[in-house]
Amino acid sequence: MARKNKWIVFIYYHTKLFIVSFLPFKIFKIFKTRVPLKILFNPHKTRLLGQVAPYSLCGYPRLSNVYDLARKIEKERIEGDFVECGTWKGGTTAIMGALARGERKTWYFDSFEGLPESKEAEKGKFIASENDVRELIHKLNLLKDKNIIVKGWFKDTLPKAPIDKIAILRMDADIYQSTKEILESLYHKVVVGGYVIIDDYGGWEGCRRAVDEFFGSSKLDFQLIGTYDPRKGAPVYFKKM
Ligand SMILES: C[S@@+](CC[C@H](N)C(=O)[O-])C[C@H]1O[C@@H](n2cnc3c(N)ncnc32)[C@H](O)[C@@H]1O
Repeated sequence: MARKNKWIVFIYYHTKLFIVSFLPFKIFKIFKTRVPLKILFNPHKTRLLGQVAPYSLCGYPRLSNVYDLARKIEKERIEGDFVECGTWKGGTTAIMGALARGERKTWYFDSFEGLPESKEAEKGKFIASENDVRELIHKLNLLKDKNIIVKGWFKDTLPKAPIDKIAILRMDADIYQSTKEILESLYHKVVVGGYVIIDDYGGWEGCRRAVDEFFGSSKLDFQLIGTYDPRKGAPVYFKKM
């Protein structure tokens, strides 16, 4: 009898897991990259990434990377806020917002006027609206006072942002000047054990140059964890030591 019950529980559990995971499976169509099936065993991740995907230019590997690191930070109780510079419609940042616990804040920085003037890309590329971010924060039921949208150019907003400590600094601003401004204003606020994600290190020459210059001159201590792989589209990220 006990053996029979065990089987009923087993079948019930796995059927439920399959249904819960399968429902948002159609959402996978909106991911820009292939999604590994193992995600079906994590219904929370499946649902959240499905919800944010329309609000992000990132494919599955990048969204998954943010999810995993934010979970890790929460599990290890590393202090500090979650920050993304270059939030666009807020999709990637909101993953962190949805996973943040307690007093931790999540910051959404963007000009909402697209890229600034530069030789590297067309001015105004990647324009999103603050309302897109607000809509997503509302859809995910996130607290407004813990999910803070900061509109403006990094050179004006980052130096005076009231942030003491950063647990995850996600940089996704494409070009040299913007990347340099983020590092100069915020890197020293990343706590030991915190993560820095550089989305464009592999894809934008200007971003790579700004990062190499910054780390080359400052002799900072960090542990590189992920490297860019064009096949997987993985971003560079590292842990501050
Ligand atoms: C590629 S998009 C970011 C994509 C986004 N992280 C996502 O998940 O889809 C780059 C963003 O950086 C912003 N940006 C770039 N340089 C900036 C600067 N100096 N100040 C403010 N925003 C900037 C642009 O407005 C744009 O929304």
